[in-house]
Amino acid sequence: MHHFERRDGVLHAEAISLERLAAAVGTPFYCYSEATLRRHMRVFKAAFADLDPLVAYSVKANSNLAVLAIMREEGAGADVVSGGELYRALEAGIAGSKIVFSGVGKTKEEMAAALDSGVFQFNVESENELDALNEVALSRSAVAPIAFRVNPDVSAGGHEKISTGKAEDKFGVAWTRARDLYARAATMKGVAIKGVDVHIGSQIAELAPFERAFERVADLVRALRADGHAIERLDLGGGLGIPYGEPAGGAGDPPHPDDYAGLILRIAAPLDIRLIFEPGRMIVGNAGVLVSRVLYVKEGEAKKFLIVDAAMNDLIRPALYDAYHGVKPVALREGDSEPYDIVGPICETGDRFARARPLPPMKAGDLVAFMSAGAYGAAQSSQYNSRPLVPEVLVNGERFAIIRRRPAFSEMTAAERNPEWKSA
Ligand code: LLP
Repeated sequence: MHHFERRDGVLHAEAISLERLAAAVGTPFYCYSEATLRRHMRVFKAAFADLDPLVAYSVKANSNLAVLAIMREEGAGADVVSGGELYRALEAGIAGSKIVFSGVGKTKEEMAAALDSGVFQFNVESENELDALNEVALSRSAVAPIAFRVNPDVSAGGHEKISTGKAEDKFGVAWTRARDLYARAATMKGVAIKGVDVHIGSQIAELAPFERAFERVADLVRALRADGHAIERLDLGGGLGIPYGEPAGGAGDPPHPDDYAGLILRIAAPLDIRLIFEPGRMIVGNAGVLVSRVLYVKEGEAKKFLIVDAAMNDLIRPALYDAYHGVKPVALREGDSEPYDIVGPICETGDRFARARPLPPMKAGDLVAFMSAGAYGAAQSSQYNSRPLVPEVLVNGERFAIIRRRPAFSEMTAAERNPEWKSA
């Protein structure tokens, strides 16, 4: 459920019309609903209320500081995968003791920064990384709390570019080798074994892959305990899909968090273990939209194009994963629907948000909203074609705030220099 609804025919974010926001900040822009962000975090936490898990919001999904601050207020920690994300989480006031550090390629500098901020856990993804972490910790007289991310070799459906739990994927350590690695880690003075971690992919629309993966890691927890390791934590990653509003025939609706929780309770409760989750999309995906204005309606030879002022640099999901995003005219339009290809101004054929999308007759100047754009939208945007990053706006009831402003062209080029030998 989200708070983007029509009032008097006009799409609103909570109590503010997107038309009013477009007039105030210009298009394109991202708009987030604070009530929706909070609601999703509460629904997630409530599903596991009895267990008091650490819900480490996955910063990569939407890393705006204002969004992170809301997560902190809701009691969440953070799942980070880079020094930059660690910086953001700390800036937003999230305590190191609630931060888990994931990712296959942590640098020694990043490990040192994470140790200095007292992170809750490193999710270690290879033997080489274990050695590096041990070394960094010893050099700082610290002990790094660790879990190994195990790769359960489970196919999680979804798009191949966001599936992570198959043996051929780069992620995690083979679950068949995990016991040897734990035995090695137990001999190291710079690391302390705390738990087991697994994350199998994203936008997972069914429970079965989670079930297979979680049963495997539960078996591993039992085996590791039998080997004498004190396994007190189980990090089950993120990945729960969200409805993108695809019409019948497309991807179905994903499971409700309560059903996901039911499955986990059945598998994990007997282990008597502290659970950690790293949800991203589930929290922010449907809490955000990208609002764009129609520049031109172009009658092509074969089809009709809606050329809008947002482009693949602002929201790359359709181009990168063939992802479906609902598109809604901000103001209701009269007339029979007709199919439009909705494209941006970038010089690439792939700069297309939707193919043959049925919409009422649209004209230049109309506003459209790309729905479900709160996760991996702004976070994956770039300045390709020298298009500055678009603003992000947060709505709270009848109030709104620009939580990232539109930069000037001069800011876009501020870090660039001619080489000295050219400036004479
Ligand atoms: N934990 C780890 C270790 C992850 O790699 C990810 C996402 C998450 C948690 C959060 O997963 P979520 O709950 O959001 O599914 N850019 C792609 C999605 C990439 C996901 C990468 N890892 C997209 O736009 O669909």
